[in-house]
Amino acid sequence: MNKILRGRLLTFLRKPDNHNDTEAFDFLEDGYLSIKNGKITSRGQFSEFKFDEEHTNIEIIDHRPNIIMPGFIDVHNHFPQLRVLASYGTQLMDWLTNFTFPEEAKFSKSSHCNKFAKIFIQTLFNHGTTTSVSFGSVHQASVDSLFSEALAKNMCLIAGKVMMDRNAPKNVLDTPESSYRETKSLIEKWHKKERLKYAVSPRFCITSSARQLELAGALMKEFDDCYLQTHLSENKQEIALAMSLFPSSKDYLDIYAQHNLLGPKSLMGHSIHLSPREIYQMAETKTVAVHCPTSNLFLGSGLYNFVRLSDNGVRTAIASDTGGGTSFSMLQNLDAAYKIQQLQNYSLDPLTSFYWITLGNANALGLQNEIGSLESGRYADIVVLNSKATRLSADRLLDCNNLIEELFVVQTLGDDRFVEAVYVAGSRVK
Ligand code: GUN
Ligand code: ZN
Repeated sequence: MNKILRGRLLTFLRKPDNHNDTEAFDFLEDGYLSIKNGKITSRGQFSEFKFDEEHTNIEIIDHRPNIIMPGFIDVHNHFPQLRVLASYGTQLMDWLTNFTFPEEAKFSKSSHCNKFAKIFIQTLFNHGTTTSVSFGSVHQASVDSLFSEALAKNMCLIAGKVMMDRNAPKNVLDTPESSYRETKSLIEKWHKKERLKYAVSPRFCITSSARQLELAGALMKEFDDCYLQTHLSENKQEIALAMSLFPSSKDYLDIYAQHNLLGPKSLMGHSIHLSPREIYQMAETKTVAVHCPTSNLFLGSGLYNFVRLSDNGVRTAIASDTGGGTSFSMLQNLDAAYKIQQLQNYSLDPLTSFYWITLGNANALGLQNEIGSLESGRYADIVVLNSKATRLSADRLLDCNNLIEELFVVQTLGDDRFVEAVYVAGSRVK
């Protein structure tokens, strides 16, 4: 059935130029959003909505006084790490060894994958995330389960089986050849089926041999509309190990460059400790630097330099990186991102923040014509936010004078309790 959502409509039109750039977004205090066959057909002032013949069989859902905006986009997270969140006491390399690899080993069983795929996708929705870019485990079954569940929900999901052939326990390893073969068969099975897309996923250069990275590069050439996701320069110990494994490479990024893994569809998780040369090459190749703020704080990895990357023309995106990250909430991740920039004497403004988790991330994925805004023709992937979900925020908002101030309160105090409703392709999922 067709639907009309009524409420406070907010959508970005472009990247904000400054903290007060009111031209960068469209806001309607009492707006309507018309949805037909899973897509947005129009929006406007509710008072101007015309109930013509076409609109006789229509459901009107009144979300006032909540904010209706595009669903959040999470550009980097790990499906098999739901039970890795909140693991105490380690930084990256020991965290992988002690907690992550043993947990991911459990995804060799289809029944385990099926059970967790349902929980994982519902958890994303509950936090307002409607599009996700996710790593599976090394097992083909993990990605089969995740794609099946996303397909059932008509969700936009980009995912891939991790390729990893060394420096980890045997039960989470593949081989260059098996990873190539399995990735290829997953691409043929899932890529571009409805709203699903495949990301070739070498975990990182520590767990992939040169031969495996070479085959990942070959897959990217063979299937040039797939994405690539991996990890880059997250932690100083990791970088030293990477350089010892690839001694002839100039730096960490060069390892991926030498295997033809850079480009506009390449998503580099973390991208923290980068040299000027690496930043230059990321900008040149249009490779995306994906910020994972709650993860970087939790694992003590370092401070992503948003200003330096943006000023040098690097394309950026933001993500939860759960289970290294500590929250599925993109609001919580914005809060952490703000604090990380504060530590570098820069105050990330709320307009840029909310742009980032919607249209900005859509742009980073090249999917701005499908998701990330409330333009007609886009999928009706929608989050409804209640700014006054807690007594604390309701009280704090008594002192707010405009939408921009309100958004900052929501990102600072907000989480899944603020997510009143979620729609994916027009169907309510929360
Ligand atoms: N580097 C390689 N694998 C991972 C992972 O699962 N999480 C994080 N945060 N970094 C990684
Ligand atoms: Zn990650």
